[in-house]
Amino acid sequence: MKKFLLSLAAAALLLPAQADEGMWLLPLIKEQRFAEMQALGLKLQDYDIYNPDSSSLKDAVVIFGGGCTGEIVSPEGLVFTNHHCGYGQIQQHSTLKHDYLTEGFWAASRDKELPNPGLTVTFIEKIEDVTDYVLAALAGNNDPDNVDFVSAKYLNELARKRVGEKYLSDHPAIAVEIKDFYGGNQYYMFTKKIYSDVRLVGAPPSSIDKFGADTDNWMWPRHTGDFAIFRVYADANGEPAPYSESNVPLRPKRWFKINIGGVQPNDFAMIMGFPGRTNKYYTSWEVAERRDIDNEIRISMRELRQQAMLEEMLADPAVRIQYASKYASSTNAYKNAIGSNWAIKKHDLEKVKLAEQEKLIAWSKKNCETAYPEALLTLEQIVSDRKDLRFRSWMLDEAIIRSIEFTKVPTKVDTLVEALKGRDKEEQQQQLAQLTTAYEAFADKNYSPVVDRKIAKIMLKEYRRLVPAGKQPAYFSVIDQQFKGNVDSFVDYLFEQSIFGSHDNFNKFLAKPTAKALENDLMLLFAHSVQQENKALTESLKGFDAGYAIAHRTYLKGLLNMYGNRANFPDANRTLRLTYGQVKGYDPRDAVTYAYQTTLDGVMEKEDPDNWEFVVPARLKELYANNDFGRYGLSNGKMPVDFCATTHTTGGNSGSPVMNANGELIGINFDRNWEGVGGDIQYLPDYQRSIIVDVRYVLFVIDKYAGAGYLLEEMELVQ
Ligand code: ARG
Ligand code: GLU
Repeated sequence: MKKFLLSLAAAALLLPAQADEGMWLLPLIKEQRFAEMQALGLKLQDYDIYNPDSSSLKDAVVIFGGGCTGEIVSPEGLVFTNHHCGYGQIQQHSTLKHDYLTEGFWAASRDKELPNPGLTVTFIEKIEDVTDYVLAALAGNNDPDNVDFVSAKYLNELARKRVGEKYLSDHPAIAVEIKDFYGGNQYYMFTKKIYSDVRLVGAPPSSIDKFGADTDNWMWPRHTGDFAIFRVYADANGEPAPYSESNVPLRPKRWFKINIGGVQPNDFAMIMGFPGRTNKYYTSWEVAERRDIDNEIRISMRELRQQAMLEEMLADPAVRIQYASKYASSTNAYKNAIGSNWAIKKHDLEKVKLAEQEKLIAWSKKNCETAYPEALLTLEQIVSDRKDLRFRSWMLDEAIIRSIEFTKVPTKVDTLVEALKGRDKEEQQQQLAQLTTAYEAFADKNYSPVVDRKIAKIMLKEYRRLVPAGKQPAYFSVIDQQFKGNVDSFVDYLFEQSIFGSHDNFNKFLAKPTAKALENDLMLLFAHSVQQENKALTESLKGFDAGYAIAHRTYLKGLLNMYGNRANFPDANRTLRLTYGQVKGYDPRDAVTYAYQTTLDGVMEKEDPDNWEFVVPARLKELYANNDFGRYGLSNGKMPVDFCATTHTTGGNSGSPVMNANGELIGINFDRNWEGVGGDIQYLPDYQRSIIVDVRYVLFVIDKYAGAGYLLEEMELVQ
């Protein structure tokens, strides 16, 4: 009995992660989580998911481009991901005549699939625990700054050294990297194979794949069909090769079977993908810092900026198009920050982390460990010491750099100034041509001086109200000295007088270029001063990095020792992870319950032909009116669109395969609910949900809506 109690206690200690919490590393799954997964309903064996010696499901999961996930869905290299992950490529191919963003795109045959220079699809070939190797290298390493143990540059050099330069030059499509886990307490090496001929196969119209746009972003109930289809091409041997007409569709090691049997509440679901960044191991002081500085500044500054932007967008359709993408990316992080602070307050995450720290302190006392409590004191001190710098840096970034576009006017004009002072006409022309290119890149087709002027006035006033005078960029004193502190007349003056204030002004300068005009240009001086201030703040903040990294590593070492080495998952770091949970709705507030699934009915309810975010295409209405859902509809006659699950995901998981208990594809992850974004700090079982497009909606759009059913022939559909 005693022994049984003991092992129960040990098991409890070993399992601090809550049910459904966690982004687990594949090599550790078996040991850490497999029993729980099977208890929840998983029908596979651990080696079906990850097998270091043979192919497994993980071989069908890829990094799509730089920051998303994708999955292989056919033996001929077809890839599913999110539309918002391929947005840039689809935009590249779009013209006024062929507006694939708005109208959608479907390659009618292989030769119509569109190449995308620069786009890659990356497979993970091998994952190895290299902790001993890295620790040995670090021991013999002379690192005065003491940050090599978490330096990507250093760790990647070690990875290259481990396989040898010859191997790498013999295998040009192979890349290796070593990543630090648990703050640098463990290291894994990833061997990757990178395919660079990736072609666009299909994309729905924006009225489906961006339905609800910014209003519905981060929201459940959701009705977006956020997917796009690509294909990986390889050379005749199946090896990665740059784009060539002679390349052939990749014959992958693995592809997902697609299950159109549908999902039910509490069904087991799991997701593999490449989550970008989480902060589970924040201390209570960092939670407060994030809440009071980072999130608070982001929320209040973007509110002002977006309001001004939106006014202009609503007043002028041309501006709406120009600023659509800037507005979308601004609100994306803004809504995330709101959800993050909501969760920090609602669930008192500061207290949650404090309790964890206190537990470690008590445990340390009992075990005569002094290093862990000391590390906590250091972290508290660092957060306190960097407070002022961090506030200034966030204010400068959010209120000025990200808000006022003319902080990006070309400022590298030294050589042009020199040339203008000299006599070499040819050199002058060449330098002027360079400046023209830089100016055109700044004042591109999506830049409106009217909008920039309006926003600059608002943001500069707010910045000056909140940041003490002595702590602003040096040049801002001009506003007081020459403009009697009147920000409006200062900004008006910049736009009227500066070389970069308008195309007219720029052309006037080109007609009669002088060194003096450049040297005294107020907009240029403003931008330069902001850049200098930014550099100085970044440098000063860097001074805290080593101290932080060392204390953070020690704190995590303490947690690992207390809980057992394998009990918790490491923070996300753009490496391949698995999360599992259940298909499930939630109760967002008192007396309100959200279902787990949405249907086309909801699309029709949200329809608003006068609001670009909620336009429904005629063809979709027709299919809806005729109940023409083919084999993809529900037994109650409705057509499923999205569903949500308790899986633990974050940015980077976009495009990830969502699998059922048999490892078959049931959906594509594309978002999270705003009540769940605080899960980047602490998983929120009752609130956090991954938002997933049902694979039946994907197939319905391909087959019924777009008439591209021929694509289904190469997929393996099961029920
Ligand atoms: N919120 C999702 C993510 O973080 C989707 C973003 C793209 N969509 C948008 N409306 N901005 O990536
Ligand atoms: N949309 C996010 C992405 O692009 C995923 C949402 C989240 O943060 O969970 O990765």
